[in-house]
Amino acid sequence: MVSDIAVTRTTRQNRATQTDDRFAASADRLAVGGCSRRSAPPDYYDPQFVSQLFDEMARTYGFVNLVSSFGFARRWRRQCARAVAVPTGARILDLMTGMAELCHEILPIVGDTGRVTALDISPEMCRHARERSSFWTTRGRCCVDVVQANALDCPLDEGSFDFVLSSFGLKTFAPPQIEILAREIARVLRPGGQFSLLEISVPPSRVLAVPYLFYLHRVIPLIGRLFLGNPENYRMLGIYTNAFGNCCTALDAFEAAGLRTSMKSYFFGCATALVGHKPDVPKG
Ligand SMILES: C[S@@+](CC[C@H](N)C(=O)[O-])C[C@H]1O[C@@H](n2cnc3c(N)ncnc32)[C@H](O)[C@@H]1O
Repeated sequence: MVSDIAVTRTTRQNRATQTDDRFAASADRLAVGGCSRRSAPPDYYDPQFVSQLFDEMARTYGFVNLVSSFGFARRWRRQCARAVAVPTGARILDLMTGMAELCHEILPIVGDTGRVTALDISPEMCRHARERSSFWTTRGRCCVDVVQANALDCPLDEGSFDFVLSSFGLKTFAPPQIEILAREIARVLRPGGQFSLLEISVPPSRVLAVPYLFYLHRVIPLIGRLFLGNPENYRMLGIYTNAFGNCCTALDAFEAAGLRTSMKSYFFGCATALVGHKPDVPKG
């Protein structure tokens, strides 16, 4: 179920001023251990920490993600890829690609003349992404070029992509990092290029939010353990999600980077996305 959310300027400004408060409140809750992990590491937005976290999760992430999301993750990725009109042969950047899960949805759309670059900071995630890429190449799909790098400092040329897509890759960034990320996306997109960035979110309704957060904080770590993963690592995903809230918190950063941006909500706000484009003429 998808609905466009018309975010008025006033609402957006109000929410933007709430972003830092919300972030601080989440950090406070974490500091006192109110958010399920007794002591969240103080540097949990440090790219090195995040890279190591996903290196450790790489072996189990695919299964846990599939089972714990009841298939929603796959459906949301598909919706993320289809939220923009990607033509055959397009040049696409999949940011925070993980094991190239979103590429699975992108490749049939771009066809064999497309050019897909998949970027991730975690060497282990990249290793899995390369394996998948080789498999797809043997099946006649276009080649996915996997780049191991920090999305906050992309080693990619200015204006070199028609589309930037990402699924479940925003939550591990703190608000100041989101601003840098937005500028990087604006830099690598060509004028007129579009983006669609989806993230799991805290639904606005308390009726849904309470069981949903319980599920994220308590049940997913158990599922992680079941698949022989480290439950503490999976608990971190709940901590990041809680602090992230939803994509509205990142909207102003994208507008400030010169990108025309709106927010989409999926399944009663359990996932949200930033969708938009880089204007042909820079915003005055
Ligand atoms: C939750 S996974 C999402 C993976 C995949 N896109 C999906 O749909 O499941 C988040 C990914 O973001 C990557 N990541 C986090 N911070 C990053 C950064 N600064 N630069 C590049 N990748 C990053 C992590 O390594 C991890 O693979």
